[in-house]
Formats: sequence, structure tokens, C-alpha cells
Amino acid sequence: MKQIVLILMSILSFSCSSQTQRQATDTTEPVSKKILVVYFSCTGTTGRVAESIAGAVDGRLYRITPAEVYTSADLDWNDKSSRSSVEMADEDSRPELGGEPLDMKDYDIVFLGYPIWWDLCPRPVNTFLEKYDFSGKTVIPFATSGGSSIAHSVRQLRKLYPNVTWNDGKLLNGGVAVATEWAKQVVENTKKGSR
Ligand SMILES: Cc1cc2nc3c(=O)[nH]c(=O)nc-3n(C[C@H](O)[C@H](O)[C@H](O)COP(=O)(O)O)c2cc1C
Repeated sequence: MKQIVLILMSILSFSCSSQTQRQATDTTEPVSKKILVVYFSCTGTTGRVAESIAGAVDGRLYRITPAEVYTSADLDWNDKSSRSSVEMADEDSRPELGGEPLDMKDYDIVFLGYPIWWDLCPRPVNTFLEKYDFSGKTVIPFATSGGSSIAHSVRQLRKLYPNVTWNDGKLLNGGVAVATEWAKQVVENTKKGSR
């Protein structure tokens, strides 16, 4: 009987110690990352996508607000002298922003959404990127457009802001379901990558 008790105790103690070992070396625990979903949008398309992404990844939604709103005349790309045409023709244009300030140190992952303007991101997005410190953060661009790809705008962002850790961008003209699935996957991959 004594022998049986001893055997049972040693089995129990082995199983407890391997459990402790597993807990100590387990790296599959989720990494906690705070997510910000920033977007610029004048006619609402990018805004709707950004809202759905923020909901899907439990991120804080923040709108990049220009100090002076864009009127429909400002957005007329057929008019060379419209505000958007003038700003996009000048690569140094940095329109002033309004809106509440952000504490960027609160976030690790930043989704950055914008409409494609002349194959690029609108200049207020540049103002935003130059206003805050993105070091140590992963920035994930997404865009909506009338058909153009996001590729050229992301190439330009990488070139202008080489200190930012840029993720591959994604054009999200395909609706909210595609956007939310993509965003969840990106967050999952980003967390795995930083383990
Ligand atoms: C000034 C301006 C320039 C644009 N340039 C492009 C372009 O180069 N390629 C494209 O596919 N769409 C272009 N568009 C269309 C927008 O990218 C598209 O309508 C976008 O979904 C609008 O997003 P929003 O509703 O969030 O502002 C342009 C729109 C504006 C106002």
C-alpha cells in the first residue's frame, strides 16, 4: 500500500512540474497591443471603412481633421486652381490641422486610412505624420479610391518617413467585410511578429 501511495505521489509531482515548465516557456499567450485607427476622409468612404476596422480590432478611432474643411469646390480635381489641386501640386504643402491632440505613446499599432488623391495620400495626412512621433510603432496604411492602387502612395510614405515601421498597405474598395477580415489578420500577424 505504502509503495502504491509513493508511486502516485511521484506521478503527481512530475505532472505538476511539467505543467509549471510549460507555463514558463509558453509563448503563445496573446501580446497586448493598443491599436489606433486614424483616418482622413472628405466624402465619407474611407471613414466608413475606418469605423468598421476600429470596431473589428477594438481600436480607438481618430479622424484627421483639417483646420479648414474641404468644400466640394476644394475637391474638384478638374479645376487646376482648386484647393486640393494646388496642394497636391506642391509636395511641400502641409495644410494645418484642427481636432483634438493625440497621445501617440498610448498606441503600438496604427492603422492609417486615406482616400487616394492624385495617386498619393492627401497632404493633411503628411501634416499628421510629421506632427507625431511614430518610432517603435507599426503603421498600416489603407485607402479607398476611384480605382487607383495604393502602391504609389505607400512607396512615397516609406520614402518620406523611413523611420516609421511601415506595413504593406491595402486598398479597401471592396466593402466592410473584406476590410474587417483583413484588419483582424494584420493585427494577429503583427502580434506574432513581435513575440
Ligand atoms: C482631389 C481628389 C483627387 C483624387 N484622385 C484620385 C486618383 O488619383 N485615383 C483614384 O482612383 N481616385 C481618386 N480620387 C477619388 C477618391 O480617392 C475616392 O473617391 C475616395 O474613395 C474618396 O474617399 P473619402 O470619401 O473618404 O474622401 C480623388 C478624389 C479627390 C477629391
